[in-house]
Amino acid sequence: MSGRRGVLLKGAVLSPRSVDRADSYEDGFVRVDDEGRIAAIGVWHDALNDADPIVEVGNALILPAFVDAHVHLPQIDVRARYGLPLMAWLEQHVFPAETAFADPEHAERVAERFFHALAGNGIGTAGVFATVHVEATHRAFEVAANSGLRIVMGKVLMDVNGPPELIEPADRGIEASLELAERWEGAAGGRLHTAITPRFAPTSSAALLSHAGRAARKAGLRVQTHLAEQREEVEIVGRLFPEAADYLAVYEQYGLVGERSVFAHAIHCTDDAFGRLANAGSTIVCCPTSNAFLGSGSFSLRRAKRANVQIGVGSDVGAGPLFSPLDVLRHFAYLDRVEPAELLYRGTLAGAEALSLSHETGSLAVGNAADLVVLEPPVDAVGDPLQRFVQCVFRNPETQVVATLVEGRVVYGRLPT
Ligand code: GUN
Ligand code: ZN
Repeated sequence: MSGRRGVLLKGAVLSPRSVDRADSYEDGFVRVDDEGRIAAIGVWHDALNDADPIVEVGNALILPAFVDAHVHLPQIDVRARYGLPLMAWLEQHVFPAETAFADPEHAERVAERFFHALAGNGIGTAGVFATVHVEATHRAFEVAANSGLRIVMGKVLMDVNGPPELIEPADRGIEASLELAERWEGAAGGRLHTAITPRFAPTSSAALLSHAGRAARKAGLRVQTHLAEQREEVEIVGRLFPEAADYLAVYEQYGLVGERSVFAHAIHCTDDAFGRLANAGSTIVCCPTSNAFLGSGSFSLRRAKRANVQIGVGSDVGAGPLFSPLDVLRHFAYLDRVEPAELLYRGTLAGAEALSLSHETGSLAVGNAADLVVLEPPVDAVGDPLQRFVQCVFRNPETQVVATLVEGRVVYGRLPT
């Protein structure tokens, strides 16, 4: 991590405003102040010349660092294990990999590679699932703090229907989550946050969900979990929680569906469930590469939009094989007719909104942290900055992440000299 802060970046600048609007400056600038915040953006002609060093990025685009709103730290090494449906894939590949996190040294080594991979893919902020292990999660937070990234992370909660090494009594899991929150919520200058993280309903007792809901409300913590990813999973939930009208109702009855709640997948949801998520101010994280890889089904973007529910995007590594937000956005685009401004928005601001961090990151609004990615499009990319960004999305392998900055600090790569 370099210590550079105050800087005047010169190049093509893009920043989302909403799902259908983006600010775009072909010959633009971003001024980063000494605190690592965005002091101004606009057309180069208007940039006031002062003592800050000028960094020209050439043909690269300057945009907000990407937000991966749903990703699993312990699964970096079980990516691309193809051919099984969700429940069998978890048992055969994921649970053994997560069991290895009983060793904190192992956890720390994996965390180093994980956060480096995020930064290397232009991701400045992520919503992360760790494992059930408290010490391993502490280590992961320490590595996150040193990485310079902005991270929301939770210790996974599981108290039933898992391998014995990964389940624990509900009260112990909640206590550990609160202890982690005590230590890490707002740490590293406000870059780190914690989340109450029940894995999903099938590995949760009613007692666990009820404790989790109470703890999240009482401590004002974020909640992240999975929802209706595969049909078999939905059927299991129906059998485990026969009193609930549908999968979402399980989380609702325990107070887990609120403004700070983030639900990954939500593929097999009715319009009614989408409407309830929207009313609650919760967010869905669409994970299109994961959904394709595990054969989970296709997220109904059209229905979710019609219900006005907030939607972020996530890699869901390891079910998603790649970290690249560009790859995730390409698959997202194939869900429906998605306009260029929406692709930019989903990869940045929508994720920040999902993680309740849009006052800090996700757009280049003045006063926000200078969380940026400098992206070099394919050499023959043409059109305005938004069009060139779209070419980065669809020609991801020909696109280069030059540098990722969080709060004006380079956390990956280097700025041109
Ligand atoms: N549902 C419960 N746990 C997981 C997980 O680790 N990955 C995915 N894709 N779905 C899940
Ligand atoms: Zn997941």
